[in-house]
This record gives sequence, structure tokens and C-alpha cells, in this order.
Amino acid sequence: MEEICMKYTVITGASSGIGYEAALAFAARGKHLVIAARREEELQKLKKEVQQINESLEVIIYTGDLSSAEEAHRFYESLKNLEVETFINNAGFGNYDPIAQ
Ligand SMILES: NC(=O)c1ccc[n+]([C@@H]2O[C@H](COP(=O)([O-])OP(=O)(O)OC[C@H]3O[C@@H](n4cnc5c(N)ncnc54)[C@H](OP(=O)(O)O)[C@@H]3O)[C@@H](O)[C@H]2O)c1
Repeated sequence: MEEICMKYTVITGASSGIGYEAALAFAARGKHLVIAARREEELQKLKKEVQQINESLEVIIYTGDLSSAEEAHRFYESLKNLEVETFINNAGFGNYDPIAQ
């Protein structure tokens, strides 16, 4: 019998901005998601929005600070048994300070 394996799109920095919108865009194309960031509430809000688009989609929330090596390793461990189709490593921040005064 053929095994049905679920494929996931993993998006870090999904709680706002480009990551949030990318999650909605992938959901609109029928993709199961793993969404990661520090702000759990925003990820829960995104999960609800995704499930309004398509209630059959699986959305796994990962909450953690990916600037910590330990957390990044924990995140990797949490993904190990999933089939990752696409990985969008978008978490980050901009520094708008001038580089010279
Ligand atoms: N917008 C632009 O014009 C632009 C231009 C060049 C590059 N970029 C890059 O594109 C990416 C997205 O930009 P954006 O404008 O969408 O920014 P944004 O709205 O500030 O989103 C950044 C995302 O990264 C997450 N994040 C930040 N630090 C994190 C950490 N330590 N651990 C886990 N998650 C973290 C934030 O979630 P939490 O706060 O919930 O953790 C948020 O979901 C960033 O990497 C940014 O540097 C953006």
C-alpha cells in the first residue's frame, strides 16, 4: 500500500510582515505549514486565518528565539521527522541606524 506522506512548508518569522503574508500565500496553494517565531499569540492568529482559507490544512506552531543556538537546534529536532518541501528562513530584523554619524 502506498504511504501518504504530508509535505510541509516551513516559514520562520511568520508572526508578522513578509513571513505572515508568505504563510497565507502558501496556504492559498494548499500547503501544510510549520510557522515559527517568538510571539505565540500572533502565530495562533495566523493559524486561525489559515484554517479559514482551508480547514483541512495542518498548521504546526513553533515558538522560540531562533537567535539562540540551542533553540535553533530544538527547532531542527522538531522538524526532523517531517517532510519539508520548502523552507523559508525569513526570521530577522533590520537595523536602520546610520553607519556613520
Ligand atoms: N521589509 C523589508 O523591506 C526588508 C528588506 C530587507 C530584508 N528584510 C528581511 O526580511 C525578513 C522579514 O522582514 P519583515 O519586514 O517581514 O520583518 P518583520 O515584520 O519585523 O518580521 C520579522 C519576523 O521575524 C521574527 N523574528 C525576529 N527575530 C526573531 C528571533 N530571534 N527568533 C524567532 N523569530 C524572530 C519576528 O517574529 P517575533 O518577533 O514574533 O519573534 C517576525 O515574525 C527579515 O529577516 C528582514 O531583515 C526585510
